[in-house]
Amino acid sequence: MESTKNLKNVESPDDYFEEYESLDVHELMLKDNPRVLAYKNAIFNKKDLFFNKIVMDVGAGTGILSIFCAQAGAKKVFAVEANKCSLLADEVVKENNFIDIIQVIPSKLEDVKPETIGKVDIIVSEWMGFYLVHEGMLDTVLIARDRFLNEDGQLFPNIAKMYAAPCQLPSMYDFWDNVHGVKMQCIGNKIRQQKKSKPEIMLVDDRDLLADPKILAWIDLKTAITVDLDIIGGQDLVFPCQQSGKLQGVCIWFEVEFPDGSLLSTSPSDYPTHWKQTSIPMPNSAEVVEGEPLAFRITLNRDMKDKRKYNLELIVLNPDETEHEIPCDCYMTKCIVTKQYMEIHN
Ligand SMILES: C[S@@+](CC[C@H](N)C(=O)[O-])C[C@H]1O[C@@H](n2cnc3c(N)ncnc32)[C@H](O)[C@@H]1O
Ligand SMILES: [Zn+2]
Repeated sequence: MESTKNLKNVESPDDYFEEYESLDVHELMLKDNPRVLAYKNAIFNKKDLFFNKIVMDVGAGTGILSIFCAQAGAKKVFAVEANKCSLLADEVVKENNFIDIIQVIPSKLEDVKPETIGKVDIIVSEWMGFYLVHEGMLDTVLIARDRFLNEDGQLFPNIAKMYAAPCQLPSMYDFWDNVHGVKMQCIGNKIRQQKKSKPEIMLVDDRDLLADPKILAWIDLKTAITVDLDIIGGQDLVFPCQQSGKLQGVCIWFEVEFPDGSLLSTSPSDYPTHWKQTSIPMPNSAEVVEGEPLAFRITLNRDMKDKRKYNLELIVLNPDETEHEIPCDCYMTKCIVTKQYMEIHN
């Protein structure tokens, strides 16, 4: 499924809201079953929590999450939507006979006056962009939390995690070896150079992951603050290769967790979603062998001129000079010895 919700469409603040006026984008999201069902199941699994409660749906779009909350027993749902989509949400609310419960608020969340709503018990929002934070909508959810959520209120989702793993990217490398009998690595090289500054949104086959993923970021939505989102990742990570292959890039994805412990995962090992995965290609392909340690520093730096965007930076480190986890599965003598020592003494 090709995403129309692509990177170029959030160039300016106005473009951002206009993009979400396209029915195609909402159709794409509504047909993304892992996405919709993750929210539906998480809300329905916690019907006891929703019963008789006041809910805010931040960025309600067509209103689907607000309807789930009303079906789960909420007594009032404020469906806040900044663009013309709020008119559609109104129609959906009528079609489902929830006009007494769901109030669509056609406004940017940031402009909603606290006194018009008061406090809410639960905030529901689908705010995730490519590689989680592209679009910067989490900032809006944090504002909603600070202005509207009761102190003991709940957020759906409440945790977000970002993962990274080194990978093969055959469509970006091997493809150019033989384009219908013509070698075209010179073109592949140029394309990869361009992608260095703009990551690729694509499906990565989990068989192309060379190592187990490591956590790049762990965000607790109850406590996170906006400045936490200015620089994400940045730690030195060592990945012991689980298989031999060609190191051609790093794959990034995310998962969010709901208060019932359920997950919406965009991992290459899970059913594909419209977010796919994000890959940062390396300029050259390099053979690696099982057990070899690969070390990287991956940082997402918020673009301060356009806060909805991030610049992704991938730095290749020397694994000899980078601290390895304990225990570590790599083939370096110090890691083998430490692991054996721990196995004997545990
Ligand atoms: C990813 S869509 C999700 C739509 C819907 N909740 C769903 O799950 O299908 C995010 C929606 O949030 C809206 N949105 C983003 N930022 C907003 C803000 N600051 N205030 C109000 N709505 C916002 C967008 O216009 C868009 O319709
Ligand atoms: Zn090691």
